[in-house]
Amino acid sequence: MSETSERLVETPVWDLPVRLFHWSFAICFAVSWISGQAENLDLHYGSGLVLLGLVIFRLLWGLVGSPTARFAHFLRGPGAAIAYLKESFRHRGPSYSFGHNAAGGLMVVALIVLAGLQVVSGMSSTDDVIFEGPLYGRLPDWLGRPLEILHEPLANILLALALLHILVILVYRFVKRENLVRAMVLGRARLPEPVAQAAAARGETKGAPLGRALVCAILAAAVPAAIHYFY
Ligand code: HEM
Ligand code: HEM
Repeated sequence: MSETSERLVETPVWDLPVRLFHWSFAICFAVSWISGQAENLDLHYGSGLVLLGLVIFRLLWGLVGSPTARFAHFLRGPGAAIAYLKESFRHRGPSYSFGHNAAGGLMVVALIVLAGLQVVSGMSSTDDVIFEGPLYGRLPDWLGRPLEILHEPLANILLALALLHILVILVYRFVKRENLVRAMVLGRARLPEPVAQAAAARGETKGAPLGRALVCAILAAAVPAAIHYFY
């Protein structure tokens, strides 16, 4: 879908919960990374717990949320991702995906799942001075030790993925001339009329009720709250 002469229409793409999740996730990720490096472990532990809540929320919202938020909407195999990348970069114009494309979808799931694993590994870690994560010493050695060793390299892998994610967004903006950030802020994207109409006909432009997001948020928040309370 590359013809720039096509009429573009404003189409709802990202619901409020996805946008709130995204920007909170990005901020918590940065705070976790910087506080880990600075060894400010109070802040580090706090931002890690919030990140855990966000990951659980997004996993739930990926199952019961608005159509574009659902994993079933954007999770395709690696074959589809490679085909998308080939097709997408064969021409330089916008790709106009309604929601995550096949390659972006894989990146999204990798970021969310690995961030969750990073929190679990942090919880199995100690700084060998004053801080012990809630899981430290409570897991069998064969599991606890590798999880602890994983914390630093996985932080670097996550940082590389986050930087790649931002680089791709910049490539879309300046090479493919497609502004993806606007949609992650406002919730709406300018899409070609046929793409917008097809999405509307499938009923995918209608967001899930916010009450459902609230239930997911409460369930998600209960996990880090319980960890904090009992730890
Ligand atoms: C509740 C969750 C977390 C806990 C309990 C935790 C715990 C820890 C501990 C104990 C250390 C110090 C290790 C040492 O002194 O050798 C540490 C370091 C670090 N953590 Fe976490 N962490 C958590 C989440 C995260 C997350 C989500 C990230 C990344 C986004 C992260 C990134 C880092 C980094 C970059 C370091 C410094 C590694 C180094 O260079 O030594 N942590 N964390
Ligand atoms: C200035 C920094 C950032 C910008 C401008 C940005 C922008 C975006 C945009 C435009 C999307 C939607 C992509 C699409 O259309 O398919 C997106 C999705 C996403 N980004 Fe970022 N991002 C930033 C930082 C981060 C960071 C630091 C992380 C985490 C490490 C992150 C994780 C994600 C995730 C998980 C999604 C999927 C959202 C969902 O479906 O729930 N982003 N980002």
